[in-house]
Amino acid sequence: MCGIVGILGKHEAAPILVEALKRLEYRGYDSAGIATVNDGVLDRRRAVGKLVNLSDLLVHEPLLGKAGIGHTRWATHGAPTVSNAHPHRAGPIAVVHNGIIENFRELREELAASGFSFVTETDTETIALLTQKYMTDGMAPVEAAHKTLSRLDGAFALAFLFEGEDDLLIAARKGSPLAIGHGDGEVFVGSDAIAMAHLTDQITYLEEGDSAILTRTSVEIRNADGEIANREKRTIQIDQTRVDKAGHKHFMAKEIAEQPTVIGEAIRHYLAADGSKIALPDPGIDFTQFDRVVMVACGTAYFACMTAKYWFEQVARLPVEIDIASEFRYREPPVGGRTLALFVSQSGETADTLAALRYCEGKASKIVSVVNVPESSIARESDVALPILAGTEIGVASTKAFTCQLTVLLMLALAAAQQRGEIAEDTLSQHLADLRALPGLLNATLDREPTLRDAAHNLSKARDILFLGRGTMYPLAHEGALKLKEISYIHAEAYAAGELKHGPIALIDNKVPVIVMAPRDALFDKTVSNMQEVMARDGKVVLITDKAGATEASDGVWETAVMPDVPPLLAPILYALPAQLLAYHAAVAMGTDVDQPRNLAKSVTVE
Ligand code: M6R
Repeated sequence: MCGIVGILGKHEAAPILVEALKRLEYRGYDSAGIATVNDGVLDRRRAVGKLVNLSDLLVHEPLLGKAGIGHTRWATHGAPTVSNAHPHRAGPIAVVHNGIIENFRELREELAASGFSFVTETDTETIALLTQKYMTDGMAPVEAAHKTLSRLDGAFALAFLFEGEDDLLIAARKGSPLAIGHGDGEVFVGSDAIAMAHLTDQITYLEEGDSAILTRTSVEIRNADGEIANREKRTIQIDQTRVDKAGHKHFMAKEIAEQPTVIGEAIRHYLAADGSKIALPDPGIDFTQFDRVVMVACGTAYFACMTAKYWFEQVARLPVEIDIASEFRYREPPVGGRTLALFVSQSGETADTLAALRYCEGKASKIVSVVNVPESSIARESDVALPILAGTEIGVASTKAFTCQLTVLLMLALAAAQQRGEIAEDTLSQHLADLRALPGLLNATLDREPTLRDAAHNLSKARDILFLGRGTMYPLAHEGALKLKEISYIHAEAYAAGELKHGPIALIDNKVPVIVMAPRDALFDKTVSNMQEVMARDGKVVLITDKAGATEASDGVWETAVMPDVPPLLAPILYALPAQLLAYHAAVAMGTDVDQPRNLAKSVTVE
């Protein structure tokens, strides 16, 4: 993870770097730091914890200079301490790094043998020391940096700054994204275009293995072979509006509340103008060309894939294989022709998902991504990138991106069914009418918040919680458990309701609440039988169901939350909301940092 920025500007760099880091804090918030060169003198400031701590430090210990680099950290090697915080410095070099240097132990040994000593536990320090070594050997900064780059294994995005050089930045990428921003007599570097959106809309994305030598008036990019490379300069459109909480206590609360609106927009985007059929944006996807779909993602996006498997198989009769990206990328799965490889990612930068996509290049007949950030690496490297239109998601716990992913995936499954002749016209029309009515049902679901808040207060006293579901409620149970774990730190697990008696039922006693997600659908009676088995063993059940389900099954249940009636196909989208609200209110009751929970980052750019 980690976010990096750099600037060769006309104004004092420190406040501009801090503003850019604010935009990158979603990548990590364990520590932050900046370094500048002022009249040739290199200096730095670093602080543990969130960016606000660095801003406070800069008030008391300002840093002058119009050239600088900055970093916000998600710790990989070494605890979040000041000495492990970036920028790392060795003599005349300061460097910021996103990624992992896999051969850092060998490099450390080599440097130690040459008499260099280490003051941090990081892999990054080896980069600074190696560059210092080459400069001590007589190399100029550019040559020393390139020599260093040639020694590094692993994934990285780097920016180097040098003492005595007020007009030089060196940037490089391999495996981690990095972009260059072009200003008027200024130049910028950032982990993504959003970091520089307050400075420029003229962006060049570095490609794998590229390095760039930057001055205020020149940008020289070289490819992995050291040859001069021409990379396209694009004009990007990024919403400049600073995102705020719009009166909510947390971004997560705001993002939960936005769902009826953003889902409504996503539905409109994928419907033909007359609303009679699904219309995929150009260049479209021809589903008659595929025999199967392989869907790959991480975390919440993976649970969106898990849900979509039910839809594609039931509605479009198209076999779907799903996998977690970190497993998929290394198990060498056969991906023949006539396979649609589909990658789902909010950020579009998740390292494992991107690696899985690259694995499929040249193997699958088409690579499609479902992303929230249209300028992201995953979007740019796909044959077709389908936007989910959720708008900026700030809360680390994904909410509106999940339900927008579900919405787009459902519409994709319906498009596949439509093209493959697997769905009758009137059935499709009914589904589309149901989709148009969905935002209203989601608003009605949000009205159930007080009941869910009360249930969450009771749940917040538990140490362990189980989630149960069948059919499309099974992936939802996983999503509910993940949401609860990541923001309330309560241990939660999900099981397919029918699987409980094969082991997990041994966990049940009156201290382990069990959340059962069960609309009154074709599988309801089966799930209720499993719920009875829990209650027969003193288990305390929270039942999330609809009116008919509550009437039939709430006897003996600890708490019942009644959702609006929803057509079964759309139930996963609607039932995501109570799962999110339970987690949110449990976390608020526990007093955790809801939007930036411990140990996590919004975008996971390391494997
Ligand atoms: O940006 P992505 O959708 O690729 O991220 C995948 C996961 O890291 C992400 O969904 C994570 O699990 C969330 N924090 C869940 O709320």
